[in-house]
Amino acid sequence: MVVAFLQGRQCYGTGVGEDTMTPNETVTSPSDRLRPLMRVRQVRDHTDEPVSVAELDAIADVARWSGSSRNSQPWRFIVIREERTLRAIGDAGMPQTRSFHTATAGIAIVMPSDPAHGVGDAYDEGRAAERILIAASLLGLGAAISWIRSDVRAAIAELLALPSDQYVRTVVALGHPTAAGQQPKAAPGTARLPREEVVFEELWPAR
Ligand SMILES: Cc1cc2nc3c(=O)[nH]c(=O)nc-3n(C[C@H](O)[C@H](O)[C@H](O)COP(=O)(O)O)c2cc1C
Repeated sequence: MVVAFLQGRQCYGTGVGEDTMTPNETVTSPSDRLRPLMRVRQVRDHTDEPVSVAELDAIADVARWSGSSRNSQPWRFIVIREERTLRAIGDAGMPQTRSFHTATAGIAIVMPSDPAHGVGDAYDEGRAAERILIAASLLGLGAAISWIRSDVRAAIAELLALPSDQYVRTVVALGHPTAAGQQPKAAPGTARLPREEVVFEELWPAR
């Protein structure tokens, strides 16, 4: 398995794979190596196949290992598998929560209601959310962010039995992707701005 994973990669001084590779083996480009990250997209339609407990445990571990400002780890994560709860989240926050109409699991990122750290907490929360998406994608699962609007937060807090000093703004829907869920949502080449409009060298470009 490890050998298969390393095929096509060259490892320099990491200790990983040095036994299994020779310097002349195929060196794939940085872009090729990072392609799994480029494939992390929102998947909002899932099959009935459950996400396993082992998969959820592994994803939750990735989430809790996210870096945070001053390593404050302001989050708590609620792993949700109860279909009733998943569908109730879906109904409560439409249209943002539509992924929960098919999700077979979800992870709520619970944050402290602390206005003094609002921006920093939001930054940390975003990092954790993205890592959940990446972890799910690497496991072949489909994940999608659901933003819980402020008018929906009380309903979600009740569903998840949150104490009054905690709230949920992000819930990530998880499941096995359907073919439809994996379909591109934009015309080819239009899902992101062209590179030249986004990435600059050294200076902001002169007009
Ligand atoms: C802060 C934030 C909030 C988002 N809220 C929602 C949401 O409420 N519901 C949803 O389905 N997707 C939500 N998304 C996902 C975006 O729609 C998605 O990242 C964007 O459309 C790009 O999708 P793609 O990576 O599949 O191309 C959110 C993403 C971010 C970063």
